[in-house]
Amino acid sequence: MSVNTDFDLIIVGGGPGGYNAAERAGHAGLKTLLIEKETLGGVCLNRGCIPTKTLLAVAKHYHIARDSKEFGVTSENVSIDWSQAYKRKVKTVRALVSGVKTKMKKNGVTVAEGEAKFTAGNTVEVNGEKYAASKIMIATGSRPFIPPIPGADSGKVLTSREILDLKEIPETLAVIGGGVIGMEFASMFAEVGSKVTVIEMLPEIVPSLDREVASLLRERLSKKIDFKLNTKVEKIEDNKILFSSSEGNGSIEADVILMSVGRRPSVENMGFEDIGLDFSPKGIVTDEKMRTNLPGVWAVGDCTGKSLLAHSAYRMGEVAVADMLGRNERMRYNAIPGVIYTNPEAAGAGITEQQAEAEGLDVIIEKLPMQYSGRYLAEYGQEKGFGKVIVDKKTRALLGVHLIGGTCSEIIWGASALIEMEMRVGDVREVIFPHPTVSEIIRETLWEVPAEYENY
Ligand code: NAI
Repeated sequence: MSVNTDFDLIIVGGGPGGYNAAERAGHAGLKTLLIEKETLGGVCLNRGCIPTKTLLAVAKHYHIARDSKEFGVTSENVSIDWSQAYKRKVKTVRALVSGVKTKMKKNGVTVAEGEAKFTAGNTVEVNGEKYAASKIMIATGSRPFIPPIPGADSGKVLTSREILDLKEIPETLAVIGGGVIGMEFASMFAEVGSKVTVIEMLPEIVPSLDREVASLLRERLSKKIDFKLNTKVEKIEDNKILFSSSEGNGSIEADVILMSVGRRPSVENMGFEDIGLDFSPKGIVTDEKMRTNLPGVWAVGDCTGKSLLAHSAYRMGEVAVADMLGRNERMRYNAIPGVIYTNPEAAGAGITEQQAEAEGLDVIIEKLPMQYSGRYLAEYGQEKGFGKVIVDKKTRALLGVHLIGGTCSEIIWGASALIEMEMRVGDVREVIFPHPTVSEIIRETLWEVPAEYENY
C-alpha cells in the first residue's frame, strides 16, 4: 500500500479539540488532514453541548411563558410541541456542523470521513489508505461510562446520546448520577413537565461545583425534582431501579432511565498499544504542551482524561498547534471556567472553598446575594443566588469565583481572565464593570474583602 505524505499534520477526531486545532493549523499554513468517523463537530455539536442547550432553551421559554405573573404577564393554555422543539434542535445542530465544514474549507483543511487506525506513531490508515506526517494529533474524545450495575447495559437505560432523540416528553424520568449531564437533563425535563428523580451516590450533587453552590442548586431544583442522595443503585430490571441507602432498600420505576455517571476517554481499538503510546483507560498521558511520549504526536481534549470540557479541548488543541509552530505556550488548568446550564445556572472558575481547604491555603472568602446586583433584582427578583470570591490572604490574588443565579454562564469567562492574569483585589477594583449587569456581583463581592487585604 502506498503512503500519502501530502500533509504536514494529521488530526484524528473532528470534535472541538480536533476541528478547532485544524482551523488554527490551516490558518497558520500547515497542510492539514482532519479524519472523523461520524459527523464533524463531535459529541459537543451533535450529541452534547449544542443540542442540550437548544432543548434547555425550550424549557426556559416554557417557564417564562407560564410563570411570569410576578412581572404582570399572564398567559393561558401554554403548551409544548416537542416535535417542533426537536426540529429546532436538529436545525441548530445542522447549521453549526455546516459552519465547521465552511471553516475547514476556508482554512484549506482536507476532511476525510472514516475510522482511523494507527499503524505507526506517524502513520494512520483510513478507508484503506495510509497517511504519514511529521505531526499527528489525537483528539478522539470520550464516551459515556456504563458502570457494572446488573441491568445497566440492557438497552433500556439511555445515555446522554439517546435521550436527546426522545420524540416525546417522558412522564417519568429517573436520572442515575447527579453530575453535570444528569442535572442538565433533570432540570430540562422537570421544567417541561416530567416527574424527575435523581439518584446520586454522594451526599451532594455535582461534585465539580463549589459545595455551597451545589447545595443551593439542589435546594432550588428540589421544587421540581426528587433527590435521592447517598443512594447506591444495586440493579436495574426493565424500567425499575433497585437501590440501597442508609435509610434502607427501595425501588422506583420510570418511563425513561438516564445513566450519567461520568465519561471515559476513547482510547480503545485505534492501535495505540501497537505504536507504543503511553496511555491507560484514564487517558493519553500528555505534558503541558500536549505532547505525548511519542515524538511528533500530540493528544488533546477528552482523550487525555483531563478537564473533559469542550472549551478545554479548544485550548489544548491551540497549545499543541502553537508547539508545532515553535511558539512557547502551555496548557494551564487553574482557571478553566465550569458551567452548568440548569435553571438556575451555576458557574465557577479557579479554586473552590473545598480545594482551598484541602490544599491548606490561607484564604479570605466573601459572599453576597445576587440581589446586590440591580439587574439581577430587576430580572430575577427574589430568586436565590449568590456570588462568592476566594482571595489568597498573603498575595491578595483572586483565586476563585463561584456564581449561582441568572445567566451566570455568560459572566464567568471574565472571572477566569482575572484569575489567569493573577490580579489582586486592588487590581480588580480598578476594573470598570458595566452597570447595571449581573457581572457587577463579582466586583461588589470583592469589595467585601477587608481593607487590610488591599494591595495599595
Ligand atoms: P460527572 O462526573 O459530572 O457526574 C457523575 C455523577 O454521578 C457524580 O455526581 C457521581 O458521584 C455520580 N455517580 C457515579 N457513579 C454513580 C452510581 N453508581 N450511582 C449514582 N451516582 C453515581 O459526569 P457526567 O455528568 O456524566 O458528565 C461527564 C463529563 O461531561 C463531565 O466531565 C462534565 O464536565 C462534562 N460535561 C460538561 C458539561 C458542561 O460543562 N455544562 C455538560 C455536560 C457534560
